[in-house]
Parts: sequence; C-alpha cells; structure tokens
Amino acid sequence: MSDTKALLARLRQNRANRNEQPQAAQQDLPPDGFDFTTLPDYKQMSMQRAAGDLAGIASPFFRETSDTSGVSIQIDGQEALQFASYDYLGLNQNQEVRSSAAAAAQKWGVSATASRLVGGERPYHPALEQAIADFYGVESALAMVSGHATNVSVIAALVGPKDLVLIDSLIHNSVSDGVRLSGAARLVFPHNDTDWLNWKLTEIRGNYDKVLIVVEGLYSMDGDTPDLKTLVDIKQRHGAWLMVDEAHSIGVLGASGRGISQHCEVDPKAVEIWMGTMSKSLGSSGGFIAGSDALIDFLRFKAAGFVFSVGLSAPLAVAATTALGLINRPLVEKLQENGAYFLAQAKAAGLDVGLSEGAAITPVIIGDSLGAVIAANRLLVRGINALPIIFPAVPEKQARLRFFVTAMHSFADIDRVVTETTAVIKELEDLPDLAAMIASA
Ligand SMILES: Cc1ncc(COP(=O)(O)O)c(C=O)c1O
Repeated sequence: MSDTKALLARLRQNRANRNEQPQAAQQDLPPDGFDFTTLPDYKQMSMQRAAGDLAGIASPFFRETSDTSGVSIQIDGQEALQFASYDYLGLNQNQEVRSSAAAAAQKWGVSATASRLVGGERPYHPALEQAIADFYGVESALAMVSGHATNVSVIAALVGPKDLVLIDSLIHNSVSDGVRLSGAARLVFPHNDTDWLNWKLTEIRGNYDKVLIVVEGLYSMDGDTPDLKTLVDIKQRHGAWLMVDEAHSIGVLGASGRGISQHCEVDPKAVEIWMGTMSKSLGSSGGFIAGSDALIDFLRFKAAGFVFSVGLSAPLAVAATTALGLINRPLVEKLQENGAYFLAQAKAAGLDVGLSEGAAITPVIIGDSLGAVIAANRLLVRGINALPIIFPAVPEKQARLRFFVTAMHSFADIDRVVTETTAVIKELEDLPDLAAMIASA
C-alpha cells in the first residue's frame, strides 16, 4: 500500500473509532448531566459561606474598591489605609511609568495581537528583556503574559517523567501546577530545611535523570527568605538545577533591589533559572525568566505559555521597562526601613509575626479562619485594609492577616496599623467560640 493509501485507511479507522465512543460514554453519564454544585470544592466553598452568613460575618473578598493614592483606598465607599497591595515600590502610582504605558498604547495598541513566534518581534519586547537581563546581571531574559503561566509552562518544558522536582513546602501554587503538568516526580521538602534537602538528594539523586529545586526569594505568606548560598552548594553537589521565584523579592531585597542574590551575596549566574513577575514591584503585569542564552533560546521554542500565547502587550512591557529604570537605592532603602519598622513595632506590641524577616511582607497569625476574617472586617471598620489568609491557603490554625508594607507608607501609618491590629486581636478574645456555635447550629 502506498503511504497515502495507508494514511487514508488510518484516518478512516480513526473516524470509525470516534463514532463508536460517544455511545459507550453516554451510558456512564448521570441522568441530569453534571452539576457544578456537586463538586467537592464547591460544597466546601458553600459551607464556608453559610458559616459566615450564620455568624453574620461579611466576606472580605471581592470588595468594591477604588485605588486613589496607593496608600489610601476607597472600599465600599469608605476610606482606608492600604496594606494589601503588592505595589512595594509605589511604581504603579508613578507618573513616568503611567505616561510611558499610555504612550506605548497610543503607538502600538493595547494588544500584541499574536504570539511573538508567528507575529514577529516588536522593539518593546527585546528592550524589556535586555533590561531584565541587565538588572539581574545574566545573559538573557524572556517575558510572558502572566507570572502564573510562566511558572507552569517553564517547569513543564524543562522536566518530564524521568525527572525529579523538589519544592519547598510553602511554594506558590503556580510552581506546584507546573510540576504536576510536567509529569516529573514531585517531592515537597520542609520549609527552608536545607539539611533535609541535602540528605534526601544524597539518598535518591541516582534514581532520576534531571533534578530541579524550586524555592521563592521571599515567601509570600510568611515573609521569610531561603538560604541561597547553601542551596547553590547543594544543587552543585548533586548536579541539580536551581530555580528561584522572585515574585516578591525583586525590587524588595538587596541594597539596590536586585533580589535574593544581592541579599545573600551570591553570584546571580550561579542560579540557573530566575523567575519573576512584573505585577508586584514593577507596577505592571506579566512574568519573566532570566538566565543563560541557551535557557532562553530553548524556552522561546518550548515553553507553551510563550509559544502558544500572545506576546506581552506594549503598555505592560514598556511600563515594566520604565519601572526597572526607576528602581534605585533610596527607594529600596525606604521600603526596607518601612518593612523593618513594621516588624519591630508588631513584635514590640506582642503580635505573633510568624517567620517574618521584615521585608515588605509580615503576617500576623490569628489562628482559626473565622477569627482572621472577623479581624480583617473589624480592621476595615477602623480604616485599615489588610486581607485574611485562611485555610486551605495556609494550614488550619495558621490563619492570619497579611500586611504588605510599601515604600509609600509613613512610620505614622505603620504605628496606626499596629495599634489598631493589637486592639482588634484583643477584642477577639472576648468573642464567643463561633466555630463551636456554627458546628452546633
Ligand atoms: C510567588 C509567586 N509566584 C508567582 C505568582 C504569579 O504571578 P502573577 O500574579 O504575576 O501571575 C505569584 C502571585 O502572586 C506569587 O506570589
């Protein structure tokens, strides 16, 4: 049979197989089809909502908000001090960043209109990528439309079923999702426990082809940092790649905001894969990878979130490029002074700040989820916006209020938030046991 005939026969057979399948599948369908409300996670959400309603507790999520100065915010028509924004350096408020984005939108439009692979390169993408690579002191960088999608598709492109990925127990969801998609074996190591990591790799390294270790530069729920020097030693000893997610550490850590490598005095080239987002300190949106020419060359053809997704839009790319040029020592010092001041004042007031190192993120641990939601609502009444982080985002009994400190805050703002938070937590002691009330209702 000729190749064409064989191909046609295979196509016919495939079509015949396809025609048979729906019959078989339909027999397994429930009579009313699938109902989203039967999903276990939907049921859990509904129970949480019902518990809140029963106790008369308003949801703190998806509130109607209008940003004014970055420090002050209007929520449901009420003025509040903002402690729930990732705009660490205030660059989302910066006129130069905003004007450059507006001019770029005028010149190029709001959409990049196609994947760069097929739509072609426009100058604002290489300009941003060169600025990121220079900022890091590495060879190359690649920008994508979303930080979350960057982690997912880069990890899925780099490792596969014969490989192992070791992730810190507090790693962001986007990293876990990327590992799942890759099909690689996944091992979660105790938070920041480099001894455990080293021991485990000594034991199992030989079972895998490639090994990837993924950590964050600044942990977003706890506000603490990894020991980068030791991680670099470990990955070198065991022949692994190291990937660092700098979503919260770029612009925040290090004397001039270069991130965790500057903070830990590690050569940035010693880390294979730097990942970051532009949605926090860079006052824009999108994700990036920085590293060697070969890594970036590979990802430009193999990372699905780059190849099969539209290019970053001009206003976002240009805003991030402008923001990178505006990061300077005095601005970073102001943020670092504020972060350290918040931590010192909170500790002095006797608040439980968990693992925080006082770098822009400090949690105040409340305990149970309902208590954290009530505390956030009461803080808002007192004119402060800080969001609760509740189970399952953090373990049960570890629910917390999370405070993001920015360079825009004053010491007086911080004094006020610490005073009000202390007062609200004191009030919680006098509340009846709501969880028990709800359970018995
Ligand atoms: C550590 C970490 N990585 C990745 C992301 C995803 O970034 P983006 O929100 O820019 O998509 C986030 C988001 O908050 C994050 O905290």
